[in-house]
Amino acid sequence: MTDTLIRGGTLVTADGRRRADLLCREGLIAAVGTELAHSSDAEVIDAGDCFVLPGGIDPHTHLQLPMMGTVVADDFYSGTTAAASGGTTTILDFVGPVRGQSPLEALATWRSWADKAVIDYGFHMTVAWWGPRFSEEMASLVRDHGITSFKFFLAYKGGLMLPDEDLIAGFLRCRELGALPQVHAENGELIAYLQAKMLAEGVTSPLGHVLSRPPQCEGEATGRAIAMAEIVDVPLYVVHVSAAPAARAIADARSRGVKVIGETLPGFLAIDDSVYRNADFDFAAGHVMSPPYRPREHQAVLWQAVQDGTLSTTGTDHCCFTRAQKRLGQRDFTRIPNGCGGIEDRLHVLWHLGVNSGRISPERFVALTSTNAARNFNLWPRKGCLEVGADADVIVLDPARTKTLSAATQRQNTDFSVWEGMQVKGVVVHTFSRGAHVWADGELRAEAGRGRYLPRQPFGDPYQARV
Ligand code: URP
Ligand code: ZN
Ligand code: ZN
Repeated sequence: MTDTLIRGGTLVTADGRRRADLLCREGLIAAVGTELAHSSDAEVIDAGDCFVLPGGIDPHTHLQLPMMGTVVADDFYSGTTAAASGGTTTILDFVGPVRGQSPLEALATWRSWADKAVIDYGFHMTVAWWGPRFSEEMASLVRDHGITSFKFFLAYKGGLMLPDEDLIAGFLRCRELGALPQVHAENGELIAYLQAKMLAEGVTSPLGHVLSRPPQCEGEATGRAIAMAEIVDVPLYVVHVSAAPAARAIADARSRGVKVIGETLPGFLAIDDSVYRNADFDFAAGHVMSPPYRPREHQAVLWQAVQDGTLSTTGTDHCCFTRAQKRLGQRDFTRIPNGCGGIEDRLHVLWHLGVNSGRISPERFVALTSTNAARNFNLWPRKGCLEVGADADVIVLDPARTKTLSAATQRQNTDFSVWEGMQVKGVVVHTFSRGAHVWADGELRAEAGRGRYLPRQPFGDPYQARV
């Protein structure tokens, strides 16, 4: 592999910025400074007017996931090429066993699907059911396969939802193994009640989706999960926080010293629940995800939480379906496949809405899109920083360049975008994944299968200090 010299840019990490050159050699960051010696055939990138940042880490994706009678439209090739084109160089995807299936067996399936990834990837495990076998296999998942985070569902009654008894047992097992429990925090009982009520009242459109998942459901479940984690004494990661009561529950717990990490999605910072009132089914259904987009007033609370550290990571929950797939729920909103895209757009949207508006600094942007995920999921300092010896996962962002987000031009394998028509300022022009120039100013250069699996270490004491 030839050297790459990224010259003259402003290097930004979660801790600060400086003007310097950055040399990539053999897949690693080899040097940072000026007048760096490099091979005569080195590729030289002029980054004079640009920011040079650690590649994005998306801690929440669902590629190729079988779900609600269909399969997510992006596989590990299309999804990871879309990610690379938007500056994301690592994803953490969720393995989803079916009820009763061995999680080890499910992991083998996901590993084979992920063989075509173009960027590096790791996995969380969905705790799709609970019993002695699941608990036993968790030990092997952690120790032999580097799966050190487990997602528990408080929603989806009759499906993924686990009763509190199992949640407590699962959290205890995570603690024992040094693994991090994650929660999808919505109250599944209340949602089931409200869904039935909506349908009985004749509300079958996507509006029923948001009406049956009010913010209180998320607030209650978040508080309950935190209480369980606090009493069990295990750290907790709350995925896709969308609502003010959930953010407040996390802030309150953190102020008491409880180890809770909150993740949000760019969509929750900018899109509101009016989308579900749109008369166009495809448009409204295209926004159906859980939790749903919230009334506008929640956005100010989430931005505040993003600024003050209550929410410290951003994912995409990329789980995209086509318009045709969403029509599975044309007559019953509970059958609309839940999920939206965004793996390609996260950095662009967050830079545009966050950095350009002055809500967050470029340093906080790096923390939110890369470094904090690396730390929370034990990928740091291999990922999420610009230190010598780290993987050369590096992006070059031109703050003056603009781009219009659209389903017509995206690499995500769907005909819908929740960001349709949005013009963003600040565009990723180069993406390097372990030193390979995978995205070169509009040209995708990555071959399928070059991405590597990232087994992760369980958490020991050092973890405690990082939450
Ligand atoms: O609607 C969503 N979020 N779909 C993906 C699965 C999940 O709950 O994260
Ligand atoms: Zn979820
Ligand atoms: Zn998800």
